[in-house]
Amino acid sequence: MESYKVQQHKFDVIVVGAGGAGLRATFGLAEKGLKAACITKVFPTRSHTVAAQGGIAAALANMGEDDWRFHFYDTIKGGDWLGDQDAIEYMCKNAPASVIELEHYGVPFSRTEEGKIYQRPFGGMTTHYGKGTAQRTCAAADRTGHAILHTLYQQALAHDATFFIEYFATDLIFDDEGVCRGVLALDLNEGTLHVFRGQAVVLATGGYGRAYFSCTSAHTCTGDGGGMVLRAGLALQDLEFVQFHPTGIYGAGCLITEGVRGEGGYLTNAKGERFMERYAPSAKDLASRDVVSRAETIEIREGRGVGEHGDHTHLNLMHLGPEVIHERLPGIAETARIFAGVDVTKEPIPVLPTVHYNMGGIPTNYHGEVVQLKNGDPDAVVPGLFAIGEAACVSVHGANRLGSNSLLDLVVFGRAVAHRCAEIIKPDSPHKDLPASALDKALARFDKLRHADGDTPTADIRLKMQKTMQSDAAVYRTQETLAEGCEKISEVHASFENVRVSDRSMVWNSDLVETLELSNLLDQAVATMHSAEQRKESRGAHAREDFPDRDDAEWMKHTLVWIDEKGKSRFDFRPVHSNTLTDEVETVPPKKRVY
Ligand code: FUM
Repeated sequence: MESYKVQQHKFDVIVVGAGGAGLRATFGLAEKGLKAACITKVFPTRSHTVAAQGGIAAALANMGEDDWRFHFYDTIKGGDWLGDQDAIEYMCKNAPASVIELEHYGVPFSRTEEGKIYQRPFGGMTTHYGKGTAQRTCAAADRTGHAILHTLYQQALAHDATFFIEYFATDLIFDDEGVCRGVLALDLNEGTLHVFRGQAVVLATGGYGRAYFSCTSAHTCTGDGGGMVLRAGLALQDLEFVQFHPTGIYGAGCLITEGVRGEGGYLTNAKGERFMERYAPSAKDLASRDVVSRAETIEIREGRGVGEHGDHTHLNLMHLGPEVIHERLPGIAETARIFAGVDVTKEPIPVLPTVHYNMGGIPTNYHGEVVQLKNGDPDAVVPGLFAIGEAACVSVHGANRLGSNSLLDLVVFGRAVAHRCAEIIKPDSPHKDLPASALDKALARFDKLRHADGDTPTADIRLKMQKTMQSDAAVYRTQETLAEGCEKISEVHASFENVRVSDRSMVWNSDLVETLELSNLLDQAVATMHSAEQRKESRGAHAREDFPDRDDAEWMKHTLVWIDEKGKSRFDFRPVHSNTLTDEVETVPPKKRVY
């Protein structure tokens, strides 16, 4: 093995990732007097949060009656009773203050006539426990993620945090007692290796949407945190729950915000029918995303899809008029023009369900501490390790996330992690010496991949993985497709042994970096397919045609999945937290989910 010089850095806390969650955590830590380092593989304002469009949910009641308890109920129902109700209570209760805090930081929200934050309806968001429609999603036109991310980065710069930009974290470092003590990372500009030591590591690395062929996720969404966690021998949770957004642009995958339907847009089939009326008579186009995506899939399958191949649907917003479109939806008008060649004031946008979000991820409690099943304790904390944002599974989204709860999750739990670290870490505490062998495994893996000399190019393996996930872990699943998918994805994983890295340079855009990313994606692709195969029920985004009903008696539990070095999966389960934190809300018992 080549010998590598590894530079050392010491901080109180290391945050990996500079999207909404990572930035909120980073400056929160600095604000608390902790020496925080944020290492990020892309420039912070290019993180995927920038692409979030429609808004951030909070029961501000600026545009009609609302209450955080309604939001709590909607989120539990939206997640089909797989969400942890203590964490959901924490998020929904803290939502209004978190959004006001963002306003004070300078987020340029759209405004009502009276100057309040503008709020639009979003899918599954109701008043009075399903009776009315809530206008709960706080928006900055249709560029809310962009506005929030830039503001958070400005806040981070205003605080004393250190950024390591274009550094790619490859592996976690633990001491002999299983405490996470840092990460190994590659400087993508200089091509040098670095160890970042911290009393804690916060993973805010986003989802792994790029395991699929067509997704709204940025190319950088390669599940790097989840990959590191699996390699550390820890479990991920609920990976079978992959959200398909109902309105990705046909052929391009770009997101067209649910805010379009919130502003009055609607879907039609080849007969011009507003088909959602048949599937969700009350909420119609604003049913939750899993419901709308399934409806579109059925319309297409039953021959009512639009276009030459009848393989998509139409999103209509012409009737909203140029003024509303210009003021509220300028971004998607531009996106539709560029990626679909459509003038949205005159024609519908061709759309279809597109992979958008991972409800599953690194299991945590509502402080952001990573938890694992240990000696019979399902909530045992992994010391020194935190996860937030899409990388994590808190689990506030359960089996299906409601639109606009993601930006909320980022800021609420980014802040929670900062609070927790400030409680348990004393600034400038000495760093414990690590055993000489602490880096051996991570460096050996890095070197092995760097010199991988097989006969299959990285891009070929990636494409096979993406096609397999797209066809066999889709909106609808059956034992047949999943069993075939398990076999195929395990074969793809095995083929990685034979990967060829032709450009070994340790910098941006090299084959090496793409291969490291692919390794993270592959483990999570296998975990997703196999988790989906073992869950014999339908719940939220996991829709099995052979098990069409939710089975609370057997399956109201979180899947835990481990992947070994050979790509073999192993499962166990954690109970769903149905307790609440305070007596301000009561546990919502499971019932049939209709919209
Ligand atoms: O449709 C959207 O604007 C996406 C929002 C979200 O995923 O939360």
